[in-house]
Amino acid sequence: MQNITVIGGGTMGNGIAHVFAQFGYTVTLVDVAQAALDKAQATIVKNLDRQVNKGTLSEADKAATLARLSFQTDLAAGVQHAELVVEAATENVTLKLKIFGDLDQMAPAGCILATNTSSISITKIAAATKRPDKVIGMHFMNPVPVMKLVEVIRGYATSNEVTQQIMDLSRRLEKVPVEVNDYPGFVANRILMPMINEAIYTLYEGVSGVEEIDTVMKLGMAHPMGPLQLADFIGLDVCLAILRVLHEGFGNPKYAPCPLLVNMVTAGKLGAKSGEGFYAYTPGSKELVVAERFR
Ligand code: NAI
Repeated sequence: MQNITVIGGGTMGNGIAHVFAQFGYTVTLVDVAQAALDKAQATIVKNLDRQVNKGTLSEADKAATLARLSFQTDLAAGVQHAELVVEAATENVTLKLKIFGDLDQMAPAGCILATNTSSISITKIAAATKRPDKVIGMHFMNPVPVMKLVEVIRGYATSNEVTQQIMDLSRRLEKVPVEVNDYPGFVANRILMPMINEAIYTLYEGVSGVEEIDTVMKLGMAHPMGPLQLADFIGLDVCLAILRVLHEGFGNPKYAPCPLLVNMVTAGKLGAKSGEGFYAYTPGSKELVVAERFR
């Protein structure tokens, strides 16, 4: 396998394209927005420079990585030679079903269609194609060039052969793949999101404050980041959407999102990306400051 197409050049897509190109694959990055591609290219250059400065990548390897990357706004042109497509477009079911229907028409017959979705059923996405045996979840973690885990998610019809190919490929990217089955939240988010939700409930019920809750989990459980800070980093809207998938998918009230989380998202307090969540964010500052409301 040599030709990889990544769909969506946002937070995850640029990292996925970066890693495949760095490890020798020919990568086409497709996005509907030229501006997103320009930004993705700039981010990849910046992240490669960081690797060069740290001494983990040579200047020559950086140049070779960039030479293996191309950018495309036309889906059909972007996938015509693909042996694997990794879809990392916006997390929206209708959009993903449309993309996979199109990919099934446009990509070569043998091409594997993978999705980086955090929460949408792989089986459902696969059902939008006539090749459900070749549809699989390849769930990278953010930031992709740094994080070692790839959750490899088997849909109901994913073949053993395709699963094995994606497990092997992940190892070639120097990642550690873990095979999981397709149930709501897979493994990572099924465990992470209830923890984040419980941290928010702990704050909501006045058991303790933002910094205190995060400190307990950082110092007590050796987590590198507290759950409230992590929620801000992931995006509170994203956390809420995943909790709703768990709640709906299992029909179990234990996954019901905390009303405080719902209110914050409704009020547009989405975490770091909106400038405020549990913490307040000032561009250019790395200092962690609790949002005024929670002081
Ligand atoms: P993002 O919003 O940063 O980027 C999405 C990109 O998709 C945008 O550049 C947008 O222009 C593009 N796009 C939208 N429709 C498209 C189409 N029809 N064709 C091609 N490109 C299209 O989103 P992000 O955060 O990178 O998420 C992408 C996927 O990765 C989602 O499925 C998300 O659940 C998943 N994910 C996100 C993680 C995160 O921490 N942000 C972690 C793991 C998975």
